[in-house]
Amino acid sequence: MILSPLSGLLRIGRVEAFGREALAHLNPELAHRATVTALSLGLVPAQEEADPPELAGEICGLAFSNPIGMAAGFDKNAEAPRALAAMGFGLVEVGTLTPRPQQGNAKPRLFRLPKADAVINRMGFNNDGHLRALERLRGVRVPGLLGVNIGANKDSADFVADYVAGVTTFADHADYLTVNISSPNTPGLRNLQADEALKRLLGEVLAARAKAKIRVPVLLKIAPDLDETALDGIARVVLATDLDGLIVSNTTLGREGVTGLDHATETGGLSGKPLFALSTRRLAQMRQRVGTLPIIGVGGVHSPETALAKLEAGADAIQLYTALVYEGPGLVTRIKAGLVDAVRAAGVGSVAGLVGRSTADWAEGRLG
Ligand SMILES: Cc1cc2nc3c(=O)[nH]c(=O)nc-3n(C[C@H](O)[C@H](O)[C@H](O)COP(=O)(O)O)c2cc1C
Repeated sequence: MILSPLSGLLRIGRVEAFGREALAHLNPELAHRATVTALSLGLVPAQEEADPPELAGEICGLAFSNPIGMAAGFDKNAEAPRALAAMGFGLVEVGTLTPRPQQGNAKPRLFRLPKADAVINRMGFNNDGHLRALERLRGVRVPGLLGVNIGANKDSADFVADYVAGVTTFADHADYLTVNISSPNTPGLRNLQADEALKRLLGEVLAARAKAKIRVPVLLKIAPDLDETALDGIARVVLATDLDGLIVSNTTLGREGVTGLDHATETGGLSGKPLFALSTRRLAQMRQRVGTLPIIGVGGVHSPETALAKLEAGADAIQLYTALVYEGPGLVTRIKAGLVDAVRAAGVGSVAGLVGRSTADWAEGRLG
């Protein structure tokens, strides 16, 4: 098993045996690098057929042809948003981008847990910084929704100022922005989820958007490691602002479902299958608290069934990353087919009709 969707891409390219053999010998980060490079060079076949009308919808007033997104962290430097959308994603989120370039944590910092279809990462916002990414995004036409995920430099004197800089820089170059305060790998970052800190952050971020005079939707990405009191606090603060939506969730510091496996005790955030139930429950619990505010559900989606479950728990759209590593891009096609079947079986016309049908069951732990 390799940490790269490239195995799936190469399957499409019919050079499977060679590609697999070559990639199996690469460490996870090198395999990931090879995949992003292949995408950026246009070596990946585009989806040939248009998406079926059942998959079309909207989030924050933005129309999508399908509700499946590439989660942040895969294309941190905006090298391949166009290729990812052409491959079949309805949404592509690049970043996290910080104002200044930074190296991230020492390697190794990315670990496969193949027995659990999971990954642990402590990348630490390695990225090229705002300006390089902005140069890449200028003039790129992405055949899907483009999100830019913004963060703070690890050694920043003022985290909030870094998010404000992100809004100012990218407001005019994205369909939506994500304020990521939930990475476990930048010390102190998750503290921005607490009441007063969150109030100040969102106040300044939304003031920067108003100043930019471009009403780009701004979403807040939160951690799954929050109890109900913390969720109450976030919902209260968010609903008092004109924030446009939430992304639930980032990786977890928990190790449920992986104890005893190789690498399970590595420091960092856990993603993939073992995150599914926790992140879906938090999504439903937030849905109950924020009414119709748009939510993107992310965490452990690895099949048509789990994609459908995210929608039913209350997500208006979904994102995934880790499962792509294990399943390859054919997963996106399979999820689409499964969602079309679900829409038809439910007689609801489009995916919007599936949203929130099981929110209470997920929120209260009867599902998951
Ligand atoms: C290697 C790796 C790097 C990530 N980097 C980021 C990041 O820079 N910003 C961010 O908001 N989320 C990041 N994430 C979190 C994902 O966007 C997503 O929230 C999480 O992995 C759960 O989804 P999944 O189980 O489908 O992977 C990263 C995840 C992985 C596996």
